[in-house]
Amino acid sequence: MDYKQYIRVIPDFPQPGIRFKDITTLLKDGAAYRAAIQELAEFAREVQADVIAGPEARGFVVGAPLSYELGIGFVPVRKSGKLPYESIKADYDLEYGKDALAVHVDAVTPGQRVLIADDLLATGGTIETTINLIEKLGGKVVGAAFFIELSYLEGRKKIGDVPIKSLVQY
Ligand code: PRP
Repeated sequence: MDYKQYIRVIPDFPQPGIRFKDITTLLKDGAAYRAAIQELAEFAREVQADVIAGPEARGFVVGAPLSYELGIGFVPVRKSGKLPYESIKADYDLEYGKDALAVHVDAVTPGQRVLIADDLLATGGTIETTINLIEKLGGKVVGAAFFIELSYLEGRKKIGDVPIKSLVQY
C-alpha cells in the first residue's frame, strides 16, 4: 500500500522550518491503519518479538494494536512523572526540545525479546532512549518499527545494529 498518500504534511508546525508529518489522516482510514499495523506485525514475527514497547504518546497508537494483532504484551514507555510504580528514567533531546522517558522496573523480564514501535523515526533520540531503558532492565531489543522514517535526519545511526522497519521514508 502507498501509505504516503495518507500522511498529511503541515509546513511550519510546531515551529518555522519543520514540515510536520501528520498521521491522523492515516489513522482515521480504517483500511490503511489496519494494513500498516499488519505490515509491521509481519516484521515483528520475523524478529520473533515476544513483547512490544511503545513510547508515549504516538508510540501507543502503533504499539498497542501491534500487540493485539500478535497476541503479545504491550509496555508503555511514558513521559516522566506518569508511572505509578517504581521506575527508571532517562533524559533525552528531541528534534525540537527536551524530555524524559520512564518505564516500570518490572516492565520486561531479563532476556525478553522486545520490539519497539513508534509512529516516527526522526533524530532517533526517542528510540535510542527507549532502547537504553529496555536494555537496562535486561530486555533484548530485537527490532524497531515505525510508520515513518525521516531519512535525512539519520536517526538510524543512533540505533546501532537493531533491525529497523519503516513503512514510509522522507
Ligand atoms: C515524536 C514521535 C516520536 C519522536 C521522534 O514524539 O512520536 O516518538 O517524536 O523523534 P526523534 O526520533 O527525534 O526522537 P513526541 O516526543 O513529539 O511525543 P508525542 O508522541 O507525545 O507527540
